Amino acid sequence: MTAGHLAQSSSLAGVIVRCMECSADFPGDRALTGCPACGGLLDVVTPLSAIDRALFGTGLTGAMAHSGVWRYWPLLPAIPREAVVSRWEGNTPLYEDARLADYAGMNGEVRIKHEGHNPTASFKDRGMTVGVSHAKAIGARIVACASTGNTSASLASYASSGGLASLVLIPDTKVSMGKLAQTVAYGSTVVQVAGDFDAALAVLRELTAAYDVYLVNSVNPFRLEGQKTIIIEAMEQYAWNPPDYIVLPGGNLGNTSAFGKALIELVEIGLIPRAPKLVVVQAEGASPFAKWFRNGYRDYAPMHADTVATAIKIGNPASIPRAKRAVDFTGGIVTSVSDEEILDAKAEIDRIGIGCEPASAASLAGLRQLVAAGQIPASASAVCVLTGHVLKDTDAVSDYHFSDRDGHPRPGANRPIRVEPTLAALERTLADALHG
Ligand code: F0G
Repeated sequence: MTAGHLAQSSSLAGVIVRCMECSADFPGDRALTGCPACGGLLDVVTPLSAIDRALFGTGLTGAMAHSGVWRYWPLLPAIPREAVVSRWEGNTPLYEDARLADYAGMNGEVRIKHEGHNPTASFKDRGMTVGVSHAKAIGARIVACASTGNTSASLASYASSGGLASLVLIPDTKVSMGKLAQTVAYGSTVVQVAGDFDAALAVLRELTAAYDVYLVNSVNPFRLEGQKTIIIEAMEQYAWNPPDYIVLPGGNLGNTSAFGKALIELVEIGLIPRAPKLVVVQAEGASPFAKWFRNGYRDYAPMHADTVATAIKIGNPASIPRAKRAVDFTGGIVTSVSDEEILDAKAEIDRIGIGCEPASAASLAGLRQLVAAGQIPASASAVCVLTGHVLKDTDAVSDYHFSDRDGHPRPGANRPIRVEPTLAALERTLADALHG
């Protein structure tokens, strides 16, 4: 599972990765995406005894000094600074709006951590700054991913910023044009694979095992280190007093894994008194993890994925064992929601002026479902993580507002009104608004 024969760098000498299955340790100066001994998933080892929160944000220069990821460098792998590629990622807002709690059926506080405010408009930038920097540090020339669109947009941007070539494999099922446009514009080589995301990732793993091509999909433990900072930053914004629940969408389950690792570490070093429960929400048509969870973790079965939330249209998530560890550590819940529940929750998030792409809205839809089912108390506090920006998928917006569901406009559909170009016509059309 080593990527080809990439040069090993002595500058990463202190960094260790550990297999979560057999606990074997390996040096962090190579491109490992699985344990060379048993094939298990790997974690970067964080030297927790040395962490001092007073060091957060200190001693950084250049772009790193502005990054909401590198700010937490004591909890991140010690990558040589000259290799770091940063685009001032992170520093995302933590919104509060009472209408979110109303929608979820709650009287407790509901907040939104909006990862669409990253440089390429999704949470992927947090992992990419660490993944691409690690690739540079070990001398990789080509970085690659399979993607439903956001990882590829982020990879393309970071690779080009750092002077590396990038290769992207996309499925030939629907990928948002906006995400593909970013990837092409930032200069990646894009290959469309005749198959779904799972097929694209499988064939890319074969390629990266055989050639000097560095894989940045979330099986790469360095990428997850960057994604940990969504949680670290959120907890700092909560002044280290966590809410009861953290709710996020689940696709390939890299983010779930990263959130779990962050929470384990924050509890261990005493930065937070307890771990909030992780709630992972999948789309019903792409919900192998939710099915497995509901089945008491018996008989795991991948599935053929189908959902309107193309970002999480994944039937065989690569990080299942790490995601299970995360959910179990926090006493969390895994559930799934229908496409219509996702779209209605998205319309609500959009309408209050915040906005997100469909996959992101699975979080609020899942929260609402679990409150209605009595699995989450209405008085609890929760933060929903929105993973991508509303402009990532404009087709989803126009489909929702401009086309009917079962012969009727959807709830809250907002259609442009066509008028003749005269003042009289405008006055007639807007009479209620103008005089109301
Ligand atoms: N939300 C968005 C907007 C995503 O793009 C993704 C994953 C997820 C949620 C799920 O995160 O895979 O860590 O569970 N997108 C990947 C991609 C698969 O290729 O862009 P996950």
